[in-house]
Amino acid sequence: MTAEYQVHGTVAVITLNNPPVNGLGLATRTAAVKGIQQALADDTVKAIVITGAGKAFSGGADIKEFNSPKALAEPSLHTLIATAESSTKPVVAAIHTVCMGGGLELSLGCHYRVAMPGAQIALPEVKLGLLPGAGGTQRLPRVLGLEMALNMIVSGTPVASDKLANTALFDAVFTADADLVSSAVAFAETIADVRPLPKVRDRKVDYPNHEAFLQFSRNTVKAMSGPFPAPLECVETVAASVTMKFEDGMKFERERFLHLIQTTESKALRHAFFAERVASKVPDVPADTPVRAIKQAAVIGAGTMGGGIAMNFLNAGIPVVMLETKQEALDKGLATIRKNYENTMKKGKLTQEKFDQRMALVSGTLAYEDIGQADIVVEAVFEDMGVKEAVFRKLDEVMKPGAILASNTSTLDLNQIAGFTKRPQDVIGTHFFSPANVMKLLEIVRGAQTGKDVLATALALSKKLKKTGVVSGVCDGFIGNRMIEQYSRQAGFLLEEGALPEQVDKAVEKFGFAMGPFRMGDLAGNDIGWAIRKRRYVEKPEISYSKTADLLCEMGRYGQKTGAGWYDYKAGDRKAYPNEQVNAMIVQHSADIGVARRKISDQEIVERLVYSMVNEAAHILEEGIALRASDIDMVYLTGYGFPLFRGGPMFYADTVGLPNVLAAINKYAKGHQGSAWKPAPLLVKLAEEGKGFNS
Ligand SMILES: NC(=O)c1ccc[n+]([C@@H]2O[C@H](COP(=O)([O-])OP(=O)(O)OC[C@H]3O[C@@H](n4cnc5c(N)ncnc54)[C@H](O)[C@@H]3O)[C@@H](O)[C@H]2O)c1
Repeated sequence: MTAEYQVHGTVAVITLNNPPVNGLGLATRTAAVKGIQQALADDTVKAIVITGAGKAFSGGADIKEFNSPKALAEPSLHTLIATAESSTKPVVAAIHTVCMGGGLELSLGCHYRVAMPGAQIALPEVKLGLLPGAGGTQRLPRVLGLEMALNMIVSGTPVASDKLANTALFDAVFTADADLVSSAVAFAETIADVRPLPKVRDRKVDYPNHEAFLQFSRNTVKAMSGPFPAPLECVETVAASVTMKFEDGMKFERERFLHLIQTTESKALRHAFFAERVASKVPDVPADTPVRAIKQAAVIGAGTMGGGIAMNFLNAGIPVVMLETKQEALDKGLATIRKNYENTMKKGKLTQEKFDQRMALVSGTLAYEDIGQADIVVEAVFEDMGVKEAVFRKLDEVMKPGAILASNTSTLDLNQIAGFTKRPQDVIGTHFFSPANVMKLLEIVRGAQTGKDVLATALALSKKLKKTGVVSGVCDGFIGNRMIEQYSRQAGFLLEEGALPEQVDKAVEKFGFAMGPFRMGDLAGNDIGWAIRKRRYVEKPEISYSKTADLLCEMGRYGQKTGAGWYDYKAGDRKAYPNEQVNAMIVQHSADIGVARRKISDQEIVERLVYSMVNEAAHILEEGIALRASDIDMVYLTGYGFPLFRGGPMFYADTVGLPNVLAAINKYAKGHQGSAWKPAPLLVKLAEEGKGFNS
C-alpha cells in the first residue's frame, strides 16, 4: 500500500505513503489515481484532500525507479496530475515538510493548496541537468509570477512555505501548532460547493514588458551556467508560460525535457548523484553493521592537514585535542584554525556564537596521556614511515581499547602502519585532501585487517563531516594519487615532445579542469613531487619520468611559494606568466635527449592526460582497490576538480566509447615513451565486449 484512503465526514483523504519522502513511484501514483476515482464514485464525498505520510508531502520522482521503465509506466505523473485537475470534486493538496519536484507539480494540478509553515518548496530538477517536466514550468509562474518562479526553477533552491504564504500558490498557510489533516479537511468543507473549480492552468502570467526581463534572464543565466544547458532551457520553458497558450507551453516543456534527458551533461549529473549515494555501500559491510560512537577526537600533528582535519570535527560539534611535539608548532596550528574561522566570520558566513562554540571545542597538548580517551585519533605527521612508526607505537600504548587509529598518509603502506600496533583491526586510513576543511573527498583506506565496524564507522563519520567517503584498498597512492601520477608523467612527456606548459594547461582547462597540471604543480609546490620522484628513482627505477620537473626544481622554482615555478607570479596576483628561461630549458632538454619537437594538438594533450588516468583506473578496478567505477568518478569529481559535466574519468571514457579509448592508447604506445602505455586487461576486455566501465 503506497497511498491510504480514508473518509472524514464528506472529505476523502488520500495519504501518500512511500517512505522516506513519498516518491511518486508507479505504485504510489496508481494508488493515488485509484483514491481519486474512489472518491469520485462515492456520493457522500464532496471534496478530496491529498497529503503525505511521515516526513514529506512528496519529494518528487521515486529515485529507486530512475532509469527504469516504471518511471514512465501508466499512470504516469502527467496522468495523475490530469486526474486531479479534471476531478469534478475539488482536490486540495495538504503540504508539509517537503514538497519538491513532481510533488510540487502534483500540488499545482490540485484545485487548492494549503500548507504548514516551514515546508520546503522547490523544483530542483535543474540540479540533475533537467527541467520540471510535469507542468512545473507552466504552472508555477501562474501562481508565483514570472520572476519568482523563474528564480526557483533556474536555481532549484527550496523556499519555505511561509515565505510564499501571500502568493497564489497557497490558499492557506496554517500556524505551526495546527493539525494539518484536520485543518485541510475543514478547509475542504468550506470550498466543497464552490464552482467553477479553480485551475492554475486558467490563470495568466502578468508581467509588463516580459521580453526585456526574459532577455535579461537569458543573459545572466547563460553567463552563470557554464557548460550546462539546463538552466537556459529552464528560462526558455518558463518564458513559454507567458508567450504561449497553456497547452502549447506544456508541449514545449515536454519537448525540452526529452531533449535535456538525452544530454551528456544531464546524464553526468545523474551519474554523479547516484555515484555519491552508492559510494557509501560496501558489499561485505552490511548496512546494519554496528558503528562505534565518535564523541571525542584527537589529531596528531597541527600542520597543514592536521589543522584542516581538526576543523572538520569542530564544524560537526565534536571536540578535538591536537597533539604536537613542540609548543611552537601547536600554537601555530591553533592560531591558523582561529584565523580561518575569523576569515569566515568576516565574510559573514559564521556567527560570533558559532565561532565561540567551535573554538571552545579545540585544545592542544604535548602529552599523549591527554588524548587516550579519544574515540578516534587521526595522525597527520610528516610523510615518513619512521615518524609514523613512532606515533603508532605510542598510540597503541595510550589509546583506550576500541579507539579508532586513523592515518592521513597519502602514499605509505597502511598495512605496515597497522603492523606497528597490536590492534590492526582498529587501524584505517582517512585520506583528507588539501585544504582539508574545504575539499569534499575523503578516501577511506581499508587495510587488510581493518574491522568492518571500523570501516562502517569511518563511512558514517564521513557523512557527519559532510564529506564524500570513498573506500580504497591499500596500494601506492590509493585511487586518486595513483591515477594522477600517470597524468603527471604524460604532462612531462608532452613537454619533451613539443608542448609548453601553457599549451598543456590551456588544453586541459578548456576540457573543463579548473587548473592544468603545471599551474596545479605551482600551487601545490613542485618540490613535493620532486621528493616523491627521488624516492622512486631508487625504489622503482623501472618507472620513467620526464626530467623537466627536476630541472625546474634545480632552478629553485618550487612554485607560488617561491614566487616562481613553471610560471612567474607577481605579489598579490595568482595569474601565471610564462617564463622564457623555463621554456628554453624545456626546449633544450628535448635536444639533450634527442627528441625532435613537434606540434602537438590540444586533442592529443587531453587524450593522453585523461586516458592515462583511465587506463590506470582500469587496473585499480581490476585489482579490487576500488569497489566500482563510479567510486573512481566520485574521487575525481570531489577531490581533483574533474569537470562535473563530464561525469568523472570513467563516465567520460564510457561516453567516448572504450574501443576509441583503447585505439588511442594503442596509438600512443607506439610513440615517445610508449612503454608508459600498457592497456589494462579490463579495458581491453570491456572494449571487446562492447561494454562500459559503468555498465
Ligand atoms: N599537504 C597535503 O596536500 C596532503 C594531502 C593529503 C595528505 N597529506 C598527508 O598528511 C600528512 C601531513 O601532511 P602535512 O602537509 O600536514 O604536513 P606538515 O608538515 O604541514 O605538518 C606535519 C605536522 O606534524 C608535526 N609532527 C611531526 N612529527 C610529529 C610527531 N612525532 N608527533 C606529533 N606531531 C608531529 C609537525 O610539527 C607538523 O606540524 C602526511 O602524511 C601527508 O602525506 C598531505
